[in-house]
Amino acid sequence: MKRGHDEIASPSYNPPGKHKSPSYDDSFRNAQRVADHYSARSNQTLEEREASPIIHLKKLNNWIKSVLIQLYAQKGDAVLDFACGKGGDLIKWEKAQIGYYVGVDIAEGSIRDCKTRYNGDAEQQRRKKFSFPARLICADCYEARLDKYLEDDGPYDICSCQFALHYSWSTEARARRALANISALLRPGGIFVGTMPDANVIIKKLREADGLSFGNNVYWICFDDDFSEKKFRSSSPFGIRYQFHLEDAVDCPEWIVPFPVFKSLAEEYDLELVFVKNSHEFVREYLKKPVYTELMRRLGALGDGNQDQTTLSQEEWDVAYLYLAYVLRKRGQPGSHRRSNNINKGKMLIKDEDIEFIRSDM
Ligand SMILES: C[S@@+](CC[C@H](N)C(=O)[O-])C[C@H]1O[C@@H](n2cnc3c(N)ncnc32)[C@H](O)[C@@H]1O
Repeated sequence: MKRGHDEIASPSYNPPGKHKSPSYDDSFRNAQRVADHYSARSNQTLEEREASPIIHLKKLNNWIKSVLIQLYAQKGDAVLDFACGKGGDLIKWEKAQIGYYVGVDIAEGSIRDCKTRYNGDAEQQRRKKFSFPARLICADCYEARLDKYLEDDGPYDICSCQFALHYSWSTEARARRALANISALLRPGGIFVGTMPDANVIIKKLREADGLSFGNNVYWICFDDDFSEKKFRSSSPFGIRYQFHLEDAVDCPEWIVPFPVFKSLAEEYDLELVFVKNSHEFVREYLKKPVYTELMRRLGALGDGNQDQTTLSQEEWDVAYLYLAYVLRKRGQPGSHRRSNNINKGKMLIKDEDIEFIRSDM
């Protein structure tokens, strides 16, 4: 099975300039569609999860997120999980022995599932006790002034945004709000880790396709007629929308994030790139380390966790190629900040009424 990562010439995007943004209403409607999609996805039982056609891709993505967390999280860290979803990373943070967790997501259904997962699933008699206090917030991370709302709670040591930053790229204002929130809430020297679609790969596949769509048995991507020429102006690096369908996972609009634009915009907010790697490259590199090979074996994404690749299908491996992992660091000297007494704000058992709702115009 060929698992190659072809070299792709970077499309030339200039730093962001003035561009015509969609109206506030369009932007709100888009965010709502994404929120509705994720809110409607119900929690799966273990049996349903194992029967998923992309179960090994899910395990591979969990491995990538675990490696990122193990590489950068430290004991006692205060963590801000942007677009935390149903709390799929809670156990990873527990393993990293963090001290405090704040999860924010736009989808109310997901935040409620995250609460259930944090508290322990009473129906399944499974009370997983997390050792860190937590706070859960339902908000649009790319519109709401989380920098103000969480001002007294920060700064955080690490911010994670897994498989979600691309939902901010619908307009320049939203992309800036995402980065402004993250930067303002991270301590100097704090870390921003994440995963998102790899624009280079998606644009290359679009250009190779006969029409405006491409995919395989488990996913498809379709661009609007607006992009029929398959050319993207460097002056308009926001709002490049496509429809993404991933079997048993995603079915909603997403936006291209040209990485050079992301990098330079992040620098404006004092976030400096540490590394970026396509998922294929990431897997190859970190699988060389015995501790992560062992983790892969335990998660069961790639057979014996190294050479035996009988579990992950070629289709799933092709989907993995659509994503990249990145790490950024907030400028400044670590230690030059005052740590707030934020763990007092977290709870060890979260009730429905403890979930906070933030309106975007706050
Ligand atoms: C693919 S899921 C990833 C969830 C989680 N980070 C994980 O890795 O398991 C994408 C998540 O982004 C959230 N999301 C999308 N747009 C958002 C926004 N504007 N503000 C906050 N969360 C958002 C969705 O509700 C969804 O939970």
